[in-house]
Amino acid sequence: MVGSVEDVDTENIEPLPEYNFDPTAVMNEPVVEEGNGNKRDIVVGRNVHSTCLAAHMASVLARYRKSLLERTKHHLGYPYNLDFDYGALAQLQHFSINNLGDPFIESNYGVHSRQFEVGVLDWFARLWELEKNEYWGYITNCGTEGYLHGILVGREVFADGILYASRESHYSVFKAARMYRMECIKVETLVSSEIDCEDFKSKLHCHRDKPAIINVNIGTTVKGAVDDLDLVIQKLEEAGFTHDRLDTIYDNMLVCTKSFFSSVLFFFLFLVAPKVTFKKPIGSVSVSGHKFVECPMPCSVQITRLEHINALSRDVEYLASRDATIMGSRNGHAPIFLWYTLNQKGYRGFQKEVQKCLRNAHYLKDCLISAGIGAMLNEPSSTVVFEHPQDEEFIRKWHLACQGNIAHVVVMPNITIDKLEDFLNELVQKRAAWFQDGKLQPPCIASDVGKENCLCALHR
Ligand SMILES: Cc1ncc(COP(=O)(O)O)c(C=O)c1O
Repeated sequence: MVGSVEDVDTENIEPLPEYNFDPTAVMNEPVVEEGNGNKRDIVVGRNVHSTCLAAHMASVLARYRKSLLERTKHHLGYPYNLDFDYGALAQLQHFSINNLGDPFIESNYGVHSRQFEVGVLDWFARLWELEKNEYWGYITNCGTEGYLHGILVGREVFADGILYASRESHYSVFKAARMYRMECIKVETLVSSEIDCEDFKSKLHCHRDKPAIINVNIGTTVKGAVDDLDLVIQKLEEAGFTHDRLDTIYDNMLVCTKSFFSSVLFFFLFLVAPKVTFKKPIGSVSVSGHKFVECPMPCSVQITRLEHINALSRDVEYLASRDATIMGSRNGHAPIFLWYTLNQKGYRGFQKEVQKCLRNAHYLKDCLISAGIGAMLNEPSSTVVFEHPQDEEFIRKWHLACQGNIAHVVVMPNITIDKLEDFLNELVQKRAAWFQDGKLQPPCIASDVGKENCLCALHR
């Protein structure tokens, strides 16, 4: 623990104590010699050693808290909404809440939060237009587990299915294909990072003999683009999965995985774009809970059609429940946090936050362009893409995620205009230093953001 904290290098934070925290001092009850040579146990909390240890631990934690506060202040690069108050849930911290087994079948372990888990699942199922008796789902331990589950459901239903995913899909999609030894075809993308449906169609054409399991991104990791679900379905039809084979399309499982921004977009989609709905031939949907939805611990909501889940479930006597998840134990706190925030904000609250994010993202993009820095913002998205900064310290300070020549800021509800302006001012100042003697030029990012958005020497 201490080692990783010491890696955090922010200007105004006191360093952690020099010596490493020794866990054995806590694990083993220490023994001391009394004056007469007899040994006696130290009673925790009643002697100098444990008082010092307690003070030391308190100081380690206080410093760690301070570093977290500092690091949170400058966070811009990951799609995490860090603005929340879960004080009301502090009373539950003392419980080891674990949702083992199937959320819908109570297991032998009684300290669980299944009722909250099912409440959250119901909320999303309603939103995605699946009736209670038509869906199955659970709250996973992270976004990757959502992919692992959705793709496994696809493979169990179609053992010889081919997984199609755009090359801008999250790396865990390809990892899942490797783990499950599935044939996986990478589909090209447009500059926006949206799936290239013409390439998709031509690749489908070459493999019409096998079912297609398709990963659709509603918010790509780096550029925040939204794949056009309806166009993907249309291309399936054009490639031979026609209406008279509608059952085949339906059964050919569209595995639709949604990312952080998909939850944002999900709300936004209600305003403008075609919805993600199980009325369309979608097999599974997952949405991260620790990103826009602001659960403070990693998790995702995974929903699939009830008819598909039997293919991968097994009864487990020891649990007195059914195993249909990827992992065993599940964090039982996460569903309570999700339940709390969904109830507190409600649908309209999220909608308002989406609009604020979009406004602020546009503001950032416009300011970057005015400052002569090429930038791109997909519609509708709050991921602003711009050149990879030259300075590692600057990247680290703002937690920027970089890939090749580009970096991004994901504008979340906790990112205010003031914070964006601080970031911009610092970037403009730093850039002036990086490029002042002309030896270094701003990188060309046309291939990542399009010529029209690039402001390098060639495209200015
Ligand atoms: C689109 C997308 N999907 C999935 C993930 C993986 O989420 P996790 O890190 O929770 O496994 C990410 C993470 O950034 C992502 O951007």
